[in-house]
Amino acid sequence: MYVELRQVDKAFKGYKALDDVSFSIEKGKLVGLLGPSGSGKTTILRTLAGLVHPDSGDIYIDGQRVNDVPASKRGIGFVFQNYALFRYMTVFDNIAFGLTVEKKDKAFIRERVNQLVDLVGLQGLQSRYPHQLSGGQKQRVAFARALAPNPHLLLLDEPFAAIDAKIRKELRLWLRETISSLGITSIFVTHDQDEAVEVADEIIIVNRGRIEQKGNPADIYKEPSTPFAAQFIGESSVLAHYRTLKGFESYEGYDNAVIRPELIQIAKLGKQPYAHASEEGTVEDVFFRGSLIEVHVNVQGMRLIGYRSPEEAALAPGEPVSVLIYRLYLYNEDKVRLAENARLKDENTVFI
Ligand SMILES: Nc1ncnc2c1ncn2[C@@H]1O[C@H](COP(=O)(O)OP(=O)(O)OP(=O)(O)O)[C@@H](O)[C@H]1O
Ligand SMILES: [Mg+2]
Repeated sequence: MYVELRQVDKAFKGYKALDDVSFSIEKGKLVGLLGPSGSGKTTILRTLAGLVHPDSGDIYIDGQRVNDVPASKRGIGFVFQNYALFRYMTVFDNIAFGLTVEKKDKAFIRERVNQLVDLVGLQGLQSRYPHQLSGGQKQRVAFARALAPNPHLLLLDEPFAAIDAKIRKELRLWLRETISSLGITSIFVTHDQDEAVEVADEIIIVNRGRIEQKGNPADIYKEPSTPFAAQFIGESSVLAHYRTLKGFESYEGYDNAVIRPELIQIAKLGKQPYAHASEEGTVEDVFFRGSLIEVHVNVQGMRLIGYRSPEEAALAPGEPVSVLIYRLYLYNEDKVRLAENARLKDENTVFI
């Protein structure tokens, strides 16, 4: 393992920002740290970088315990949450900063900075100041500056937070390609699940200073190991009283349920082949999403979201529909399980 945190705790004035955090990352991987605001994402990065000292626990980088190694000697590049570019320095000087501190010679610095300017696509902007750059360009400068001293580990704290949606999408693909071509082990923080799923090889879900789950995006989606992970990845609705739904009456011991659009089939009344296993609902909203239609329905006072194909007959708000729920994720504070619609398993089900 290239990077490892073992049972790391960190409290700020009695508040546990990190609570028994352990995870490891293989060399060359791009890992996304995903979690809500205040969950401890930045604190994890700062702990790795040596900017925060844990109360207990160990940090290993490349097999070496680095708890007592100062930040400047850890070989880490850090892109901060708000870029933190030096306002009175040009693009060139910003990127050169780490190399200047290391007292590299001028010719070396010029060559390295030019190389990075090419890599991040900022040709011709070397002598501009940060206020003369767009958000995306500033982000690239911050990225180049972090890469300049050739770090072994790159930490990016919400690298796209301040950038508008379209450019953000382009930048994250660019970042993914650039990082994988450099082969540098990287961790980036986001609270945007789409971004994490799209960019990362692996995701670590953080909640209230604890690791909820680590794995590749598809596995977390299919098998969430905690209620929080089940709700956090994917479009999901929380159902308050699942036991009144047909097919789920006999499940016990769980307080709540989470449902996802692909586990629901919404049909016109009378067109549902599994009527005995279906609920009646009312369409609340219909949204055109290009390749699919997103339909919000009210079933027993609960809002469910499902998808239909644009090829199917259109549904209108207020229309009564039949809603088949195949599966639910049931959960309590501490456990989650998948529940099948029991009525679909009945022997006398007639498949049409
Ligand atoms: N230096 C500090 N002093 C006191 N409390 C702190 C300090 N740094 C972080 N905290 C607290 O620790 C918790 C975790 O903070 P952290 O910055 O790691 O969250 P985050 O997941 O990065 O959130 P965000 O998405 O908003 O950036 C928060 O409750 C925060 O207020
Ligand atoms: Mg943060």
